[in-house]
Amino acid sequence: MTRTFRMLGIGIGLLLGLGVLLAGIVYLLSGRYLQQKYTLHAVNLTVAEDSALLARGRHVATIRGCMDCHGTDFGGQIFIDDPLLGRFAGPNLTRGGRGTALSVADWERAVRHGIRSDDRPLRFMPALEYNQLSDEDLTALIAYVQHLPSVDRPTVPIRIGPLARILFMTGNLPQLVPARLIDHDAPHRSAPPYGPTVEYGTYLSSSCAGCHGPGFSGGPIPGAPPEWPPASNLTPDPETGLGTWTEADFMRALREGRRPDGSAIDARYMPIRFTSKMTDVEIRALWAFLQTLPPTPEGNH
Ligand code: HEC
Ligand code: HEC
Repeated sequence: MTRTFRMLGIGIGLLLGLGVLLAGIVYLLSGRYLQQKYTLHAVNLTVAEDSALLARGRHVATIRGCMDCHGTDFGGQIFIDDPLLGRFAGPNLTRGGRGTALSVADWERAVRHGIRSDDRPLRFMPALEYNQLSDEDLTALIAYVQHLPSVDRPTVPIRIGPLARILFMTGNLPQLVPARLIDHDAPHRSAPPYGPTVEYGTYLSSSCAGCHGPGFSGGPIPGAPPEWPPASNLTPDPETGLGTWTEADFMRALREGRRPDGSAIDARYMPIRFTSKMTDVEIRALWAFLQTLPPTPEGNH
């Protein structure tokens, strides 16, 4: 009897030890990726200041979803708080927070490359989606945030939970370190001319890809807490996608958060508050782009 118990004890002890060892390995390896240093080419950007540029910057900040994580006042906010995934918060980017410390070059590195001024990668800052942001849109954005009133709110420190680490190490959460996904030597292009074209829609669509997937076929959103619904299929698939929608349906969906059958799109997860601010031209451009995609079953990327 005591023998069996002793064996059981040893067994449990070994299992626990193994668990601790594995956790240690995951922790160390993920830490290595988070501490990796990147070298970037310097870029020359000048931020002008005029009211048209500030208005443009406000629009870009709105439709590109920065406020979802940095707050509508850019004073920072928590966007994931989950015991297993961790706590993730966008820092305060106004002069009351990081604002005074960030040079224009630091802004460019953060937004287009996901890299901090000390050459280390930013966590969960979706730079892959902003990598092709044009110089014009980026400088307008910087000018706008630099002009915002200073917000006095401490930045909440990031805590990476064990599940986020395991998902990251097993290749299921590459978004944790976007800098690893970006070709840092790719040249920056200017934005295509503003118009309801496939090209302009492609340019805008990068802000939808983070949730709707690189192929826009929807499915579970990587890194989202379990209560989040899957993102919808935006390809022209007639069964699960937008195959039966018209441009007017799409316009109503992004503006009013309603599907053609009148049902509500869940605005807690789908950022209708930002897409509703898009111009007609921007929404038509996105529609034109989505129409060029191959119809794909949901979640197939
Ligand atoms: C999904 C959430 C999310 C979105 C959307 C987002 N950010 Fe961030 N951002 C973060 C997080 C988190 C950090 C801090 C990461 C860290 O400290 O490792 C960050 C960091 C930054 C930094 C660097 C601050 C520093 O201290 O170096 C800048 C600049 C920035 N974001 C600007 C933007 C802009 C501009 C946009 C929109 C174009 C944007 N962010 C959209 C989450 C987000
Ligand atoms: C933060 C994540 C997120 C972003 C960013 C996002 N979406 Fe969504 N979207 C969702 C989720 C989640 C749903 C499903 C909501 C529901 O179940 O009601 C959705 C639903 C939709 C729908 C409804 C389709 C249907 O059949 O139900 C459309 C249209 C849509 N999104 C378009 C877009 C476009 C265009 C963009 C980029 C401008 C975008 N979304 C950006 C998360 C996102």
